[in-house]
Amino acid sequence: MLRFEIVGREDYSEATYMLEVHHPLMARAAQPGQFVIVMSHEQGERIPLTLADFDRERGTITLVIQAVGKTTREMQQTCSIGTTLHGLVGPMGIPSPLEGHKKVVCVGGGLGVAPVFPQARGFKEAGATVIGVLGFRTKGLVFWIEKFRSICDELILCTDDGSAGLKGFVSDGIKVAIERHDDIDEVLAIGPPVMMRACAEVTRPHGIKTVVSLNPIMVDGTGMCGGCRVKVGDKVKFACVDGPDFDGHQVDFDDLTMRLRRYAEEERAAMERWSENCRMRESANPIAPGGE
Ligand SMILES: Cc1cc2nc3c(=O)[nH]c(=O)nc-3n(C[C@H](O)[C@H](O)[C@H](O)COP(=O)(O)OP(=O)(O)OC[C@H]3O[C@@H](n4cnc5c(N)ncnc54)[C@H](O)[C@@H]3O)c2cc1C
Ligand code: FES
Repeated sequence: MLRFEIVGREDYSEATYMLEVHHPLMARAAQPGQFVIVMSHEQGERIPLTLADFDRERGTITLVIQAVGKTTREMQQTCSIGTTLHGLVGPMGIPSPLEGHKKVVCVGGGLGVAPVFPQARGFKEAGATVIGVLGFRTKGLVFWIEKFRSICDELILCTDDGSAGLKGFVSDGIKVAIERHDDIDEVLAIGPPVMMRACAEVTRPHGIKTVVSLNPIMVDGTGMCGGCRVKVGDKVKFACVDGPDFDGHQVDFDDLTMRLRRYAEEERAAMERWSENCRMRESANPIAPGGE
C-alpha cells in the first residue's frame, strides 16, 4: 500500500506547523492554487490542505497547518519526520491563472501566508511585478518572510499590534500598495473569510480585480457531495471543482461564514472525545520522573 513519508517538519508557533511530504508524482503535477485531501491514519477524517509549496527535484510537497480542531491537533501530535500519512489525494482544484499580469499584489493573512506563496512565485516566474502584503497578529507569529523576500519586488509586512512592520491589518497594507502604485491589475488574497472580505472592500472602489481563495467545508473534493457550495454573484459554485479561487467582489461571505459554523457542535464533541482519550492514555502510561 502507498504510504506518504514525512521528511521535514518545522513548527512556526504553538498552533502552526509545516510538514514536508515525499510524493514525487504529486510534486510533479502540482500547480499554484491547488490543494490536496489528507487522511493522517486509516480511521482519520479527510481534510483539505493547500499545497503551500512543492519541490519537483526533491519530489516533495509542503503543507502548512493550523491546529484548530480534532484532526489538525491530532496531526500536530502524531506527524513527525519518519512517520507516514495514510492517504493523500490530489492535486485538486483549478490552478490559478498566472499569465498576462503586469503588476499583482499577493496578500496572505495569518495561515493564508503559506498558501499564497506558490501563486506569488508563479506570478514572478511569469514576468509580473509582485508586491507581497503579509499580515500576522504579532511579531512572534511571523514566518516565511525571507522566502517571500526572495520572490517579491516589494514586501509590506503588517502586524495587528505593530510589533513588526506596519501596524495594522493586511487591508491597510493593500491601501499602502494602492497609494504607491496606480497600475495594479490584480489583488490575490488568502486568509480567513473576514480578512478576504475586508480586502475585497478596499479594492472595490478602485475597480481592481480581486481574487480570493475560499475554504468551505469539503468532504469528497470531487463535486459530488455539495458540501463545499458557495454563492458567487447569482450562481452557486462548488469550491472543490469550480475553485477554490473566485472573484472576491462577487462572493457571498455571510453565506460562507454561516456554512463554516454549521457543524460547530459536532466539531466540539469530536475535540472533547479526542482530548478525553488523550488524557486516559496519558494516565494509563504515566511518564516516570526523569524518564523519556
Ligand atoms: C481548499 C481548502 C484548503 C485549505 N487549506 C488549509 C491549509 O493549507 N492549512 C490549514 O491549516 N487549513 C486549511 N484548510 C482548512 C482545514 O481543512 C480545516 O482547518 C480542517 O479541516 C479542520 O479540521 P479539524 O478536525 O482540525 O477541526 P474541526 O474542529 O473539525 O473544524 C475547525 C474548523 O475548520 C473548518 N473545517 C472543518 N472540517 C473541514 C473540512 N472537511 N473542510 C474544510 N474546512 C473544515 C470549519 O470551519 C471548522 O469550524 C483548507 C480548507 C479548504 C477548503
Ligand atoms: S467537497 Fe463535495 S462537492 Fe466539493
